[in-house]
Amino acid sequence: MKFLGPVGCLAFALYAGIVFAQESGSGPFYTTGVPSRDGIGKVYMGREISHVMGHLGASWLERPKREQEERTDLFISGLPVKEDSVVADIGAGTGYFTFPIAQRVPLGEVYAVDIQPEMLGFMATRIAQDNILNVQTVLGSKDNPNLPAAAIDLAFIVDAYHEFAFPREMGQSLVESLKPGGNLVLVEYRAEDPRVPIKRLHKMSEAQVKKEMTAIGLEWVRTDDYLPQQHVLIFQKPKESP
Ligand SMILES: C[S@@+](CC[C@H](N)C(=O)[O-])C[C@H]1O[C@@H](n2cnc3c(N)ncnc32)[C@H](O)[C@@H]1O
Repeated sequence: MKFLGPVGCLAFALYAGIVFAQESGSGPFYTTGVPSRDGIGKVYMGREISHVMGHLGASWLERPKREQEERTDLFISGLPVKEDSVVADIGAGTGYFTFPIAQRVPLGEVYAVDIQPEMLGFMATRIAQDNILNVQTVLGSKDNPNLPAAAIDLAFIVDAYHEFAFPREMGQSLVESLKPGGNLVLVEYRAEDPRVPIKRLHKMSEAQVKKEMTAIGLEWVRTDDYLPQQHVLIFQKPKESP
């Protein structure tokens, strides 16, 4: 090391520390800069994280035209669940997807996770009104969905992952909550398509999603592009730990 000199040694040690920290999973995974219009100024793997959509936007999630615009019906009927699957809807919002998916798993259950208590409130009202027995709301934190370990057959995240302030930590916790061989399904507006009328930071490219998911140890299974505006990416937790 003597040929590096003291400054070189210090730089090398800092670099090695960062690499070690990244590989050992303790961070730093993020850089910060000036926030762009819809972003929080925090960058993960080359992507600026967007602002969270507040609960005041709930009516936009429930808008009557959504099914027609996004063909949400196709996603709901196509999600690969069985009648006894244990499912998690991460960033569930008002439960737009939670409730129809709960009907597809009458012998299983759906954990509906969100960080906004108001969103859980919307879902609690519906659960009580319709006497729904197989949906459990879960208050997550920004870096942890607070789900039981190795309990979930399939977790899905629709139009929410790009808002996660701690995507690395959320992803790692999610992987822990999946059963071996369990699936994570991500739905994000296609960044590659300029015709999709959604703000830039609320879209993700297929390549970016794959990069971020493989970094937390998930295996890409396939990408389905049957929806008009969104990618549907399916990942799997390895059946055996490496
Ligand atoms: C645009 S909404 C989508 C809601 C729902 N998935 C849908 O498509 O109707 C995004 C949701 O993700 C939630 N969210 C953001 N960060 C989160 C996190 N770290 N953990 C859980 N939920 C989060 C927000 O509170 C918001 O309700």
